[in-house]
Amino acid sequence: VSGSSGAGARFAEVVSHPNIALAKYWGKRPGDGNVPATPSLSVTLSGLSTKTRVTFDPKLAHDELTIGGRSMSGAPLARATEILDAARKAASCTQFARVESQNDFPTASGLASSASGFSALALAAVRAARLDWDVAKVAELARRTSASAARSFYSGFAELVPEESAARVAQVAPKDHLALSVLACVVTEDEKAVSSSDGMRKVAAESPFYDAWVSFAARSFADIRAALLAKDFEKLGALSERNALAMHATAQAIGVFYMQPTSLAVLEEVRRLRARGTLAFATMDAGPHVKVLVPRASKDAVVATLGAVPGVLRVIASEPGDAARVVAEGDA
Ligand code: PMV
Repeated sequence: VSGSSGAGARFAEVVSHPNIALAKYWGKRPGDGNVPATPSLSVTLSGLSTKTRVTFDPKLAHDELTIGGRSMSGAPLARATEILDAARKAASCTQFARVESQNDFPTASGLASSASGFSALALAAVRAARLDWDVAKVAELARRTSASAARSFYSGFAELVPEESAARVAQVAPKDHLALSVLACVVTEDEKAVSSSDGMRKVAAESPFYDAWVSFAARSFADIRAALLAKDFEKLGALSERNALAMHATAQAIGVFYMQPTSLAVLEEVRRLRARGTLAFATMDAGPHVKVLVPRASKDAVVATLGAVPGVLRVIASEPGDAARVVAEGDA
């Protein structure tokens, strides 16, 4: 793809998984660059995926974006164009792109579609533009639009640690490091009311607990990382649940509730499971779904228990998953 000199259309297709943070990124450093205010650590989820195809096409008059076949404009298209522009600039390409993305789970509802979506888009854009970039460089491109997306470039467990004016992303442990399952309890198919970006901006500006959260988050991240490396599932789960509840407390203090009654019912069921001796711990992102961490051996029993909680639409089981990867590319 080298400008408008008659080069033909070229595409790349990528599959990527969302990741769920055990230590949350919640808050941005002041200034430009979309730098997180907190270090985060996540597990990539094998059971959910996004497939995105980017086609640079000399016949297009503007960028086009469809998600699940639905044509998008406004903010979602603008965020996609941000990534496409960076790839075009680096490749000296002047062609517009068609972006076709499909999630096999509800979009924009707190199942971390932005992580899988923007990692898939960044990698597909870079490859369709024939740029020979290493993983760290593609992850950095995705991070500038959705910081959590940078973690989906690594299989298993990944960390995203803020630095001076950017952030470092790396694998912490491979996917077979710990035999855990993540059970995503889907409580609605609707899109969430307050996006992660808007939620964290509002929290940083208004929440009385924001500064406390930022200092807690750094300690919590270090403890979670150590528990993971020590393969101490119980400690990892307990610390992760506390981390998520602290994040939600910052938002609830200013009237931003991501939880719905069914989310609370699942949290209660998780506590009941623990009281009966089953190791199960909950985490939630900026949405109503609850993700439950269990040792892989108790997966089937806990899936059945959580699936029976009134209001839970379905339970999607994942293991630590693979990194974003190109599945097809060539001339369109
Ligand atoms: O990367 P974003 O802008 O979608 O923000 C993600 C924020 C949380 O999902 C709430 C936490 C995290 O670390 O993934």
